[in-house]
Amino acid sequence: MQKINIGILTLSDRASSGIYEDKATMQIEKVLSSYIKNEIIFHKELIPDDYDLIIKKLLFLSDEKECDFIVTSGGTGPAIRDVTPEATEAVCDKMMPGFGELMRMQSLKYVPTAILSRQTAGIRNKTFILNLPGNPKAILECLEPVFPAIPYCIDLIGGAYIEANEEVIKIFRPKK
Ligand code: MTE
Repeated sequence: MQKINIGILTLSDRASSGIYEDKATMQIEKVLSSYIKNEIIFHKELIPDDYDLIIKKLLFLSDEKECDFIVTSGGTGPAIRDVTPEATEAVCDKMMPGFGELMRMQSLKYVPTAILSRQTAGIRNKTFILNLPGNPKAILECLEPVFPAIPYCIDLIGGAYIEANEEVIKIFRPKK
C-alpha cells in the first residue's frame, strides 16, 4: 500500500498566536486517519490568516513536500481577514467547485450560517486542495459528504492510491 502525504494547513490569527487552542488540526488528523487505510505522513502547519503566507505554505506543501492532498481549515468566511479561498485559487491550476457546493448543501442541514463559508477545492499539479471551515464540528460535517469522491479525484491527477477503511466510510471509484 502506498504512503500518503497529507498537508494540514490551519488558518487562525488567534490559535496561531496562542490566544486559544488549535483543535482543528487534531480533528482533521483524527478524521482522515479513521477514513484512510494507508500509512499517512502528515505535514502540519498553523499560521495566521495572511494571504501571502497561506500561498507560501500551500506551495511548500504541494511543490516541496509533494502532498497528495492538502486540507486547509479556517478563513473561509466573510470577515476581512478570511482569505483562504482566494489563496487557494491563486495556487490552483484548476478549480473543483462541486466540493464547496456539496459541503455547503450538506452543512445547511446543521446550521443556517453554512452559507457563510466560501470554501472551495482545486488542483495544483498532483495535489488536491480542499478548504474546510475552522470549527471542529464543521470539519467532520464537511469531510464526511465529500470524502467518497476524493480518492478517485487523486487517482485522476496522478497522486497516490488511497484505500479506505470501508467499515468507517464508503468511497466510490467508477468501474473501468
Ligand atoms: N459548516 C458546518 N458544517 N458547520 C458549521 O458549524 N459554520 C459556518 C460555516 N460553515 C459551520 C459551517 C460559519 S458560522 C462560518 S462563519 C463559516 O463556515 C466560515 O467559517 P471559517 O471562517 O472558520 O472558515
